[in-house]
Amino acid sequence: MAAPAILSSASPSDVEQTCSAFGLTTVEFGELRQRADAAKATAYCPYSNFHVGAVLLTRAGAYISGANVENASYPVTTCAERVAFGKAITEGHRGFKAVAVATDISPPASPCGMCRQCIREFCDLTTPIIMFDKDGNYSVMRLEVLLPLSFGPESLGVPSAA
Ligand code: THU
Repeated sequence: MAAPAILSSASPSDVEQTCSAFGLTTVEFGELRQRADAAKATAYCPYSNFHVGAVLLTRAGAYISGANVENASYPVTTCAERVAFGKAITEGHRGFKAVAVATDISPPASPCGMCRQCIREFCDLTTPIIMFDKDGNYSVMRLEVLLPLSFGPESLGVPSAA
């Protein structure tokens, strides 16, 4: 997981700037941070002990959380982001406004390649991905920056679910 380039502080002025640049309210941003942090505690990660929390915010205002779920057969592990999307999609949610991920390291971790592709299935390329570090500081990048030249449903003639 590569360290994202620009780290913003948890200060109100950084958060306000981020929110106006990415179309979020400061309340939504605060909820994303708090819920991503809380989701970390629900991780099942006895092998790596690396807790990851993910939260999705829908345009309808719903928050869906997930955390990583590991397995003794390591590749069976599911990342936090894909747990959150699996929950959201099967509960009928569509139209995601932001994705947040929290870990206990600094600089913050960014979603793995498989998760970026999963996000690509359900989100517009402009969707912000907010990556929180152990102190609540963060980096934020649009999906198209994290996954350039991406392959998606349109390439197979299927309308985007985003
Ligand atoms: N992990 C995630 O949950 N999300 C990612 O984007 C990368 C990695 C989890 C998988 C595994 O449980 C632990 O972090 C260490 O790789």
